[in-house]
Amino acid sequence: YLNYRVPRTRKEIFETLVKGLQRLEYRGYDSAGIAVDGPSKTTSDQNNNSICLIKKTGKVKALDEELYKKDSLNLDEELCTHFGIAHTRWATHGEPSALNSHPQRSDKDNGKIYSQSIYGILIESKSLKNKSMYHINKGYEFESETDTEVIPKLIKYIYDNRENDSITFSKLVERVIKQLEGAFALVFKSRHFPGEAVATRRGSPMVIGVRSEHELLTEHIPVQYNSGEFFFKHQMPFLTQPERDLAVEFYFASDASAIIEHTNKVLYMEDDDIAVVTGGKLSIHRMNRQAGEDPVRAIMTLQMELQQIMKGNFDAFMQKEIFEQPESVVNTMRGRICFDTKKVVLGGLKDHLKEIKRCRRLIMIGCGTSFHAAVATRQILEELTELPVMVELASDFLDRITPVFRDDVCFFISQSGETADTLMALRYCKDRGALTVGVTNTVGSSICRETDCGVHINAGPEIGVASTKAYTSQFVSLIMFGLMMSEDRLSLQKRREEIINSLKMLPELIKKVLSLDEKIKAIANELYQQRSLLVMGRGFNYATCLEGALKIKEITYMHSEGILAGELKHGPLALVDKHMPVIMIIMRDACYTKCQNALQQVTARSGRPIIICCQDDTELTKNAYQTIELPQTVDCLQGILSVIPLQLMSFHLAVLRGYDVDFPRNLAKSVTVE
Ligand code: F6R
Repeated sequence: YLNYRVPRTRKEIFETLVKGLQRLEYRGYDSAGIAVDGPSKTTSDQNNNSICLIKKTGKVKALDEELYKKDSLNLDEELCTHFGIAHTRWATHGEPSALNSHPQRSDKDNGKIYSQSIYGILIESKSLKNKSMYHINKGYEFESETDTEVIPKLIKYIYDNRENDSITFSKLVERVIKQLEGAFALVFKSRHFPGEAVATRRGSPMVIGVRSEHELLTEHIPVQYNSGEFFFKHQMPFLTQPERDLAVEFYFASDASAIIEHTNKVLYMEDDDIAVVTGGKLSIHRMNRQAGEDPVRAIMTLQMELQQIMKGNFDAFMQKEIFEQPESVVNTMRGRICFDTKKVVLGGLKDHLKEIKRCRRLIMIGCGTSFHAAVATRQILEELTELPVMVELASDFLDRITPVFRDDVCFFISQSGETADTLMALRYCKDRGALTVGVTNTVGSSICRETDCGVHINAGPEIGVASTKAYTSQFVSLIMFGLMMSEDRLSLQKRREEIINSLKMLPELIKKVLSLDEKIKAIANELYQQRSLLVMGRGFNYATCLEGALKIKEITYMHSEGILAGELKHGPLALVDKHMPVIMIIMRDACYTKCQNALQQVTARSGRPIIICCQDDTELTKNAYQTIELPQTVDCLQGILSVIPLQLMSFHLAVLRGYDVDFPRNLAKSVTVE
């Protein structure tokens, strides 16, 4: 939303919106769309004309090219107040196509358009569609197969049937969202309310960036509550009028990375907030105040740097993020571990430590890679906390309607902090009175805000769809939690010391593993035409098998399976023959001999194992087809080192197979739908 003393051309507006989309492209990328005011008929007629909507299947680049093909758009026209919308889509309902992409509109007549963007799925969309079609009485034709389209149809219906002409844009939006179920984040633009922006959310994230040439006057925006049929008319200014006249821009986005190059001053919207920008003023409205609800939205300063979300010298974000791990694990530990006194303090948990120590059990909940971080640390957490530790996939946990008690402590592990299944599991546990703990990488995310307490893993923005540095930082965070819990246990001091000393060495050891990149690339060269790849291990390295196999399948599209070596004889051994590549993780720990047995089973069936093992393990190297030798660390941290060769392997396999590493088909970075 633009309200600038120095006018901007339509071309500049396009550039800002398209750049924002490109920063978000990692979230979904099968189509994209943009809606801006059309060219003015006269110079005094700004914002009064039609809205033009341009949509394209494919990546944002295709949309960008399309914009410049349209001569009629008058790219050089200058605008002072302007509100444009852009969206990149990952199909959930309806195939990827221009019609199904967003923004969606209320009708084909551009003179009466409402446009908006959405993330999430509307649960009751089918019945809602029928209902609103019934009400609308054949007046409107649905153009797309998306559930979203019902929203612009509904708002138009409400507008057309309004009781009086003084209805506000925000009131209309409020009436629409009252009828919606499911998760969404929406922004609305209308020709009936030129230059006015309205945004709302429920379940899906929405951040508002504020850019001004001046220091902002206040640190928070008061929320305005509706005490009757209409909202209070007055709006609290948060810039003085002269400042507003000078310069202010507002950005609404589902992720701060889309706006960070314009401003680091942001506020996060809450569910059912309705934000309105008009005449350079932002106000936040909602229905009646709920008990315990915060009546202000704080303006925060983001620490994220643009540099952190750029690719630098790497070919892909994923590759950059793999190589960032020596620094990202340091950032996870920074200020939390004193290596001299062996004290570990997680600021976000310290006030709840007593309660956690008294709990019945720890339940670790996550999806995909974040779930694997729980699997990887379960054993050491059981050892250090002396509590039962359950690890749960969020979707399955909910499907089972798992019993949860008031004296349970539930951890929600999520890089994005927005994963729908994890978020729903969090609400489920909260409703049952458990203490909820977030372990996330995204400050201000829904999981951060809704948990009772938590740990930021501080890995820095992760853009590559395949999670890498977030996994190792989640791993380190959970280990630190175990160390904090065991500080006063005499019998565990030796073990704690060993782990803390090894954490200190970790960044250097990660660098050594990364130096094996060329060797791993050479092995990938031998494997990339295979259809399938098995990864076997057990004990502390079982999670590495699951995580390595997930990395391989998601970006190389090869079939890959992580197998617990202890289960080999119970089925998976049937897959092994001389054609099946098998990666085996055999480190010098308590499972060493058992893993050697598994190796013999594989070689006895003419398998040619690629072994990930400790340096100079001559016993193993003689039985291997290939070896990747890693520096040794304490058993419970070895999984951090053993996963890196598999991250690198999946990256090289995907490149060799000709795939776009950062944009794997059918996947999005943040899964905000069930
Ligand atoms: C795999 C991957 C996914 C995510 C999963 C959970 O590389 O990235 O499996 O781990 O979608 O996402 P978060 O951690 O954001 O909750």
